[in-house]
Amino acid sequence: MEMEFSSRVQQKVPLSKIATNDGHGEISQYFDGWKAYDSDPYHPTRNPNGVIQMGLAENQLCFDLIQEWVLEHPEASICTAEGANNFMEIAIYQDYHGLQEFRNAVARFMEKVRGDRVRFDPNRIVMSGGATGACETLAFCLADRGDAFLVPTPYYPAYDRDLCWRTGVQLFPIICDSSNDFKVTRKSMEEAYQKAQESNIRVKGFLLNNPSNPLGTVLDREVLKEIVTFINDKNIHLISDEIYSATVFDQPDFVSISEIIEEDGVRCNRDLIHIVYSLSKDLGFPGFRVGIVYSYNDSVMSCARKMSSFGLISTQTQHFVKSILSDEKFIEKFISKSSERLAKRHSFFTGGLSQVGIGTLKSNAGLYFWMDLRKLLREPTVEAETELWRIIINEVKLNVSPGSSFHCSEPGWFRVCVANMDDECAKVALRRIHKFVLLYSKGITEPTTPKNHCRSRKLQLSLSFRRLDERMMIMSPHSPMASPLVRAT
Ligand SMILES: Cc1ncc(COP(=O)(O)O)c(C=O)c1O
Repeated sequence: MEMEFSSRVQQKVPLSKIATNDGHGEISQYFDGWKAYDSDPYHPTRNPNGVIQMGLAENQLCFDLIQEWVLEHPEASICTAEGANNFMEIAIYQDYHGLQEFRNAVARFMEKVRGDRVRFDPNRIVMSGGATGACETLAFCLADRGDAFLVPTPYYPAYDRDLCWRTGVQLFPIICDSSNDFKVTRKSMEEAYQKAQESNIRVKGFLLNNPSNPLGTVLDREVLKEIVTFINDKNIHLISDEIYSATVFDQPDFVSISEIIEEDGVRCNRDLIHIVYSLSKDLGFPGFRVGIVYSYNDSVMSCARKMSSFGLISTQTQHFVKSILSDEKFIEKFISKSSERLAKRHSFFTGGLSQVGIGTLKSNAGLYFWMDLRKLLREPTVEAETELWRIIINEVKLNVSPGSSFHCSEPGWFRVCVANMDDECAKVALRRIHKFVLLYSKGITEPTTPKNHCRSRKLQLSLSFRRLDERMMIMSPHSPMASPLVRAT
């Protein structure tokens, strides 16, 4: 009897298609980079030659301000002497719509971030587990298996997981390129729509990310109006993911889709408009999983609310978030300090890179920048980009993300995250990039056969890296370098 059972349990019982497909995207290079970092993480004293994480869009620049606020407001937590009175009320079942005060505070915060130019109705706020959950909820509400959302490239890699994996919805690229700084145009939208139709794919929506990850750019009013006109002409939905709205650190200002649809002369069926938001980037709280669906469509709102049972934000978190967001004076100070510090970090890196002839896309938002290494590629292919990326991660020990993982149409672009480290670590990272550019550009000019090209360059890099290390340590990251690339540009 026992024998029979054990032979039975050893037979493989197949799992579901969702469990066994690779829709999660963990095989992509974007996640490979994280693994490389996890196995050898940089630490200033314990592992100074480890990998520096520049593949994570995390906003750590203002935690000193948050910590100060937390210490001054112990009542905001239910696990302190000052806040314990609220413990029971917060711990028991609460309305699945979310605490009213929480929704009021989030709506108010969204208005503030948009310069008080629009109003948000707290009753339209639906909770989700981060923007990740919000995107999936909207995909479930708006489209059926096999339907598609158009999305301009390059785009955030995890959209493939968030919108497609469990829903069976597809993303269909609108190809954008550097000729106009990756701006989406009516022509490129029409081409993508046409192509999808020719492939018998039903387009149900348009997925927009403004400010953009990975570009760090904001869309201007004209482009936003063009998109609104396009989706109305085609009668398809628009999801506007505005998760980076408070990371804008320079002109031009961020313009939300919510402002465009309220403008005089803009023809728009509001039932087609849905906003995704989260506190993961603007406040730097990705661990809290505070995500929001804000839909102008009553049916979508009602369905999303039913679905939100699968991704509610804990009431403890709602309670804390409500308290901190309601302190408007603090929030104003936080937003202004955060953008000041982001601007400083951004210019530290982009300015430092330009000194060694490395260009970056002009940007004014986000926790990263878009680095142009096209001239370091041995040829303009994804293979060459991957080769270069492997050198950067294995030899230079920086986990940056290659453009191909963002579905970029042009090989040679890399996203570099800069807000998840302190000033000292930033200096080390920039020093490493400087060294790399100097050595790599030198390596490229030395004759090698195509076959051993990459291997010899790698070897040369590892040896030279160590030798150059001490010299570089005493140079300021802003020292002008006699790079062959500087001379070439
Ligand atoms: C554009 C974009 N949307 C959504 C997300 C997911 O955010 P969350 O952590 O709130 O789920 C991210 C995270 O990096 C993102 O960059």
